[in-house]
Amino acid sequence: MVFTGAGVSAESGLPTFRSGANAMWKDDDVARYANPRGYRAHAADAWRWYCMRVQKAAEVEPNAGHLAIAEIERRVKDFVLVTQNVDGLHQRAGSRNVVELHGSLRQVRCFDCGVAFRWPPLPAEPRCKRCGGLLRPNVVFFEEQLPVDAIERAREVAERCDVFIAAGTSNLVWPAREIPDYARSCGADVFIVNVDMEGQTPASEHVLHLVGQAGDVLPRLVAATWSVA
Ligand code: OAD
Repeated sequence: MVFTGAGVSAESGLPTFRSGANAMWKDDDVARYANPRGYRAHAADAWRWYCMRVQKAAEVEPNAGHLAIAEIERRVKDFVLVTQNVDGLHQRAGSRNVVELHGSLRQVRCFDCGVAFRWPPLPAEPRCKRCGGLLRPNVVFFEEQLPVDAIERAREVAERCDVFIAAGTSNLVWPAREIPDYARSCGADVFIVNVDMEGQTPASEHVLHLVGQAGDVLPRLVAATWSVA
């Protein structure tokens, strides 16, 4: 099992949420769009901000870290990638068995009638084509539940995996906070790939810290495991 966060997309040029100078949640205006009430109250600006993120995600390319994870999937039977990312870069890099814990920016959803459909071509108005209601990204906002099937699947895979690799996540948001420890307590060997190990599960006999950028460490891990260049 590989478990990823925003750090994996940082080298593609997308900002993370909490690390680095351009971290998204450091901007108060932006942080207030990411909950249902805030989104509705600032609907025009919030929609523009999410459209900008959709556009940016489409403009950048998957990096060596995304590609290495797709390579692991080609080599490991029964592989699952669980991601908190909504940018779609894993799928563009070739990952197929992907559980998206926080939804995806590929889709919009109507706040009123609940119908979800493909993000409309930009520029677009945030109006539902079915009922005229307000559109929002089909991602999980603060104060909202994670999709139950995705979280159950993540737990089930963490429970039975032999090797668990967490890459580019701060581990501050549930379930990231507990999932590496859960995988470890169920018997997995845990690898943590991050530029900064603060707040991560401490290193131990079965928990290895691989300090560095995902786009550097993950290809080296693939090369070392399968003796490929
Ligand atoms: P964060 O921004 O909280 O954490 C990013 C992590 O990536 C940090 O631990 C960085 O040290 C690390 N990092 C940065 N660049 C890296 C690189 N090149 N290689 C490896 N690691 C790197 O992002 P997430 O952990 O993804 O939720 O945050 C989890 C969730 O919190 C997000 O999905 C989002 C946010 O609120 C929602 O929007 C629902």
